[in-house]
Amino acid sequence: KEVVLSGIRPTGFLHLGNYFGAMRNYVRMQDEYECYFFVADWHSLTTHPDTKELKNSVHRVIAENIACGLDPEKVALYVQSDVREISELYLYLNMLAYKGELEKTTTFKDKVRLNPENVNAGLLTYPVLMAADILVHRAVKVPVGKDQEQHIEMARNFAERFNHRYGDVFPAPHAFNYGTQLVKIMSLDGTGKMSKSENQMATLYLADDDDLIRKKIMKAKTDSGPTEPDSQKPDYIENMFTLMKLVSTEDVLQHYEAAFNGCSIRYGDMKKQLAEDMVKFMSPIREKAAAMQADKEYLARIMKNGAEKARVSAAATLDAVRNAVGVNYL
Ligand code: TYM
Repeated sequence: KEVVLSGIRPTGFLHLGNYFGAMRNYVRMQDEYECYFFVADWHSLTTHPDTKELKNSVHRVIAENIACGLDPEKVALYVQSDVREISELYLYLNMLAYKGELEKTTTFKDKVRLNPENVNAGLLTYPVLMAADILVHRAVKVPVGKDQEQHIEMARNFAERFNHRYGDVFPAPHAFNYGTQLVKIMSLDGTGKMSKSENQMATLYLADDDDLIRKKIMKAKTDSGPTEPDSQKPDYIENMFTLMKLVSTEDVLQHYEAAFNGCSIRYGDMKKQLAEDMVKFMSPIREKAAAMQADKEYLARIMKNGAEKARVSAAATLDAVRNAVGVNYL
């Protein structure tokens, strides 16, 4: 079986971008592949040095993943810092990553712009740690949203460099989505991608209650509608159709597509329909996650089992890595 790996940072509440860009694929992949899914707590330290909320956030990410349909019996669901082999691999890979290419990474440049006070080395080498996450299980498929594409490309480059210098240890990893393209869910106000920390009213969190979901969708950016048949959709309208495609029936979707193409669309009606379908989709996830989050013993057991599974695979890779590099003296 091919190996699959992906991770999510515990930096806040998970949202629909995380679900549709990543978690939805995890759930489907767990039946077809050998899967490793984890909470990237080390990565969150690069931007969130305050760890007061960390434990809670880690628990929530684990609970939300299971509530979305991940089966901890089928996959290894673990926390990054429980698998120390990752940090050792990160060290070797750091010698193969160049300052220039790291400085050119889009996410690095964005983070420097947002927070020039804390440009630490961990932030610079963020893609190297990500490569270690992936390569430690010799994963080949990495289900992620569009925003992570560049990082996966870099992981592939580091793997190739390692193989070239020390001998073949790693297969080449690729970003993966079941559709043809990687997903990018936009924020509801039409300004860029939906994210954990941007405008709270423009992000639909998995934890939002029914009324808040309705309120946010009713506030989503629209306009007065197309004036010519078969027009191109502005990106914020395209985003509403994307969300509808994900949670509404095919009939409903066709109805609004036809209304858009015929210039008779009423966005108020479309949003009401989308809001109801979204509530139906999200409320069972929210309730399951909340129940699980309260059961700390259950969560602890899941994390422990997950870490044990992940460590078996990681230790085998690190043996091969140490031999290849030549740091085996006994
Ligand atoms: P993170 O925590 O920002 O996001 C988790 C997953 O959600 C996807 N995502 C989106 N997809 C579509 N539209 C959006 N608006 C949207 N927002 C987020 C992300 O693409 C991601 O798949 N660096 C990673 C975590 C990580 C990782 C890894 C991922 C660490 N090591 C190894 C894969 C492999 C991150 O910050 O994701």
